[in-house]
Amino acid sequence: MQISFHKTHITDEEINAAKEAMESGWITMGPKTVEFENKFKEYIGSHEAVSVNSATAALHLALKAIGLQRGDEVIVPTNTFVATAEVVTYFDAIPVLCDIEADTHNIDTSKIEMLITSRTKAIIPVHFAGQPCDMDEIYEIADKYHLNVIEDAAHALPSFYKGKTIGNLEKTDITCFSFYATKTLSTGEGGMATTNNSDYAKNMKVNRLHGISRDAWDRYTTKAAWHYDIIDNGCKYNTTDINASIGLVQLKKQDVLLEKRRRIAKQYTEAFKNNPNIILPFIKNDRVTSWHLYVIKIDNRDEVIEQLKVKGIGCSVHFIPIHKHSYYKHKYHYDNDAYPVANDVFEKSLSLPIYPDLSDEEITYIIEHVNAIVN
Ligand SMILES: Cc1ncc(COP(=O)(O)O)c(C=O)c1O
Repeated sequence: MQISFHKTHITDEEINAAKEAMESGWITMGPKTVEFENKFKEYIGSHEAVSVNSATAALHLALKAIGLQRGDEVIVPTNTFVATAEVVTYFDAIPVLCDIEADTHNIDTSKIEMLITSRTKAIIPVHFAGQPCDMDEIYEIADKYHLNVIEDAAHALPSFYKGKTIGNLEKTDITCFSFYATKTLSTGEGGMATTNNSDYAKNMKVNRLHGISRDAWDRYTTKAAWHYDIIDNGCKYNTTDINASIGLVQLKKQDVLLEKRRRIAKQYTEAFKNNPNIILPFIKNDRVTSWHLYVIKIDNRDEVIEQLKVKGIGCSVHFIPIHKHSYYKHKYHYDNDAYPVANDVFEKSLSLPIYPDLSDEEITYIIEHVNAIVN
């Protein structure tokens, strides 16, 4: 049997929606993008949603909207995808890395305060695998030191913190979602920034399209179509109506798709809970995870990956910590010993396949072989 680590959920519905968009005569950002933004903010409960072509773009625009400047510092967990730290470097600002919790693999909020200096401007918590971070503790620190909070919610659609939807926590400035191919909602590439601050939303809308005062659809549908003004030094981060049409179909299914991933997680947990060599994912009581990832911890991780590969089972590792990557290590001189928990978690973590279209037969096969290999 061959089981890939991930397979994107695409049905005739998504294909037909993309086809309709292509046949409509308007394929770049237009009415479908506006509809997607409206439906997305309805789903999340936020006042604003700004559609962009990746979470990386959303994070970049978010940092621009809060006014990040050269030399500022932004605290990010070291256990994340490079995008979270990379966007900080776009400003010649400094990503300051924080160690993580051993159980959730999220930023360890007890270690944030000692990283704060007079140059600290913001914190970017990452909801690892879909489990929300300790947001109340983060807000307390942010309030005390007047910091902005930008959530990296690339994994967190849908996720809930103390009953509230990620993307609509009132003390957060901007929340950034990813619609990359492996994410819980996928448009191939894509992203969304949500906020309850209309000034931030306005700023991000202008800067996702070169800093132009009016977008292409607006210019297309109103008089004096040729006239526009550049009011900021923006980026080319807009999305297309083809992606938005796929997103609209996938958004409708989010609750059903979550239920399917939850069922798989439950089956894994049930099957591995008596295996003394497997440490299971740990979810805090007041959180609901999207189950974007199912991460176990084991010894001899690399060897297990190889053996599972021989059995046709694709796995992955989330993440190689930022401080271990050459560019970041050399440029910012991070001290490997400053992140003992992240180092240990990295050595042992293994992400198993978890996606809605995984069949019962495939789940059983994965369980059997993981239990047999890790014993
Ligand atoms: C935690 C995290 N942040 C940000 C990103 C970037 O997302 P995108 O590929 O949509 O730019 C990813 C993508 O994998 C991610 O895992």
